[in-house]
Amino acid sequence: AIQRTFSIIKPDATKRNLTGAIVAKFEAAGLRVVASKRIHLSVAQAGVFYAVHKERPFYGELCEFMASEPIVVQVLEGEDAIAKNREVMGATNPAEAAEGTIRKEFALSIGENSVHGSDAEDTAKEEIAYFFSGLELVG
Ligand code: CMP
Repeated sequence: AIQRTFSIIKPDATKRNLTGAIVAKFEAAGLRVVASKRIHLSVAQAGVFYAVHKERPFYGELCEFMASEPIVVQVLEGEDAIAKNREVMGATNPAEAAEGTIRKEFALSIGENSVHGSDAEDTAKEEIAYFFSGLELVG
């Protein structure tokens, strides 16, 4: 089915001018960018977004990192977009990511791993709603 998923191009990637290279990977996989903006989160805003990880030892570091530089938030649309995006991103830890994936090619570490993508339909809906209004989704 046609789905929408939420994507973040993280600070390590925007800083190294990799936005276009990453979007090219999404597009080559058949995903369409239906919403996109470059923003700079506060630590508190990053904390709300990653609230599910609040108890993890890396939560503070993760929030500081996500607020360290601008990010690009996007909504990607396509056939099985959630799974397809996860496939193109590769494993969370770049050391475990498959050849040709974004994280294999660009990620620096498990924390500075260049991209985030929704893991399921309910989280995709929540994540899209946190960053975008309906008017900003142009399919
Ligand atoms: P993401 O898909 O954005 O969701 C949560 C993020 O936490 C994850 O990608 C990683 O970047 C980060 N993360 C996961 N495990 C660790 C870890 N052990 N140390 C630092 N960051 C981590």
